[in-house]
Amino acid sequence: MNHQPKHVAIIMDGNGRWAKKQGKKRFMGHNRGAKTVKAVVEEAAHQGIENLTLFAFSTENWNRPKEEVNLLMKLLVSSLRKEFKQLIDNNIRLCSVGNLESLPSLVKQELLFVIEKTKSNNGMTLTLALNYGGKEEILEAVKAIARKVKNSIISPEKVDESTIIEHLYTRNLPPVDLLIRTSGEERISNFLLWHLAYAELYFTKTLWPDFTKEDLQKALINYGKRERRFGKTSEQLTT
Ligand code: IPE
Ligand code: IPE
Ligand code: MG
Repeated sequence: MNHQPKHVAIIMDGNGRWAKKQGKKRFMGHNRGAKTVKAVVEEAAHQGIENLTLFAFSTENWNRPKEEVNLLMKLLVSSLRKEFKQLIDNNIRLCSVGNLESLPSLVKQELLFVIEKTKSNNGMTLTLALNYGGKEEILEAVKAIARKVKNSIISPEKVDESTIIEHLYTRNLPPVDLLIRTSGEERISNFLLWHLAYAELYFTKTLWPDFTKEDLQKALINYGKRERRFGKTSEQLTT
């Protein structure tokens, strides 16, 4: 088999536990986690992955202590500034999904700057899910479609899967082939609900700051051995 996923999505989890294990503050875990992001992005591009989507901040993460939220926002700004050159050098295009409006203006500004500067890169697309929630995404799509139906722009009978996809934040992304979650938790945590419908799930106990490019390679090899049947029988796929 040995097929390669076109779209890999990662729930980068375990920064806080990593820091706690070392007797450090949670934020030190986020700092180290940012180093992992750099290594994983580089390796994914090197492996020829077309789309890498990283869960950086969920709509639920606003419920964390204010100090942690503020530090995470600062880390985002400094990482975007620092890694901007890496994206250019590796021909990576940066995109984002989520509700950018309620992010601090500096984060929004930096993000939009890097998105603009990398928009004509045609290597890997790196999508940051920022202030992203899968339920919110679907809710917003439903509202937008309902408005169009009300204004007779679309007829209800014409609403199909592609109408929904066109109204999602993730409208430009293909379905997720492989979802990786680190830290031993085995849940979706409101990530890409629509696009994960038929994803292969890969869970590892490794905490995100300890996750290496070899760990990514291992996940890709594991994916390559799986048979994706999409409801068909195994025999149908081989004939
Ligand atoms: C993931 O690590 C990073 C974010 C959610 C921003 P956590 O901060 O969730 O780490 P744990 O799960 O508490 O160990
Ligand atoms: C999911 O991790 C969000 C991100 C990785 C950004 P969390 O640590 O917030 O998820 P839960 O709370 O364990 O479900
Ligand atoms: Mg967590």
